[in-house]
Amino acid sequence: MRNPIIVALDVPTADAALKLVEKLAPVVGAFKIGKEIFTSAGPDMVRSIRSLGAPVFLDLKFHDIPNTVAKAVAAAVHLDVQMLTVHASGGTEMLKAAEQAAQETARKLGCTPPLVLGVTVLTSLDGAALQEIGLSPDVGLQVRRLASLATNAGLRGLVCSPREVSELRQMLPASTQLVIPGIRSQTAPADDQKRTLTAREALALGANWLVIGRPICAAEDPRAAAEQILKEIAESASSL
Ligand code: C5P
Repeated sequence: MRNPIIVALDVPTADAALKLVEKLAPVVGAFKIGKEIFTSAGPDMVRSIRSLGAPVFLDLKFHDIPNTVAKAVAAAVHLDVQMLTVHASGGTEMLKAAEQAAQETARKLGCTPPLVLGVTVLTSLDGAALQEIGLSPDVGLQVRRLASLATNAGLRGLVCSPREVSELRQMLPASTQLVIPGIRSQTAPADDQKRTLTAREALALGANWLVIGRPICAAEDPRAAAEQILKEIAESASSL
């Protein structure tokens, strides 16, 4: 089985991020670069990680007019990232443009297209916040609507919360890749995550990839923390 752990590099400097990457690359599946580290360290951060051979998930959550998003996706393909995110609420045309740019740019470069992942409703938004911006206050409904929109537009994957994974797994094609944050072991602090799943639970519900930040990066020994999670996953796989 491929390694499903994506480590969220939520650290402020390139030095701190690269130290983690060097320690963790042999034992995890990919690294997530978000807005903080990309804004401070730039595309060189992606290049450094790629030069170590590790896959990169560029989590910049693009949301703009289709032409602009297509160009940003093409630039990400040139950077050789393996996954990236767009907001599903950007609409069908924007989503199609993103997927098409990923496919076409990869074809031109002779590489595998990155997985373009749709983000549905940010977990920081509740019903009242959705209503405030003119949407239905039913968060679940909005998530399902955007998940269908994204997959109908051709996206091959979604980021979803632990709350949604089971329902989305049932309604989406089996090939849709589900990427889940909010992973904690039974004994770990939840930090600011309101609802968490263990790695085993998330995979059992149909997650393909697990985004894990603080439980690994803030551990005294990040590599040992990642290996412990892998061990738990392997034990659950062998007990099936
Ligand atoms: O430290 P922790 O494991 O909570 O980090 C989870 C990562 O996943 C962070 O980079 C966070 O921004 C991201 N994320 C999340 N919840 C979402 C979407 C993304 O925690 N709904």
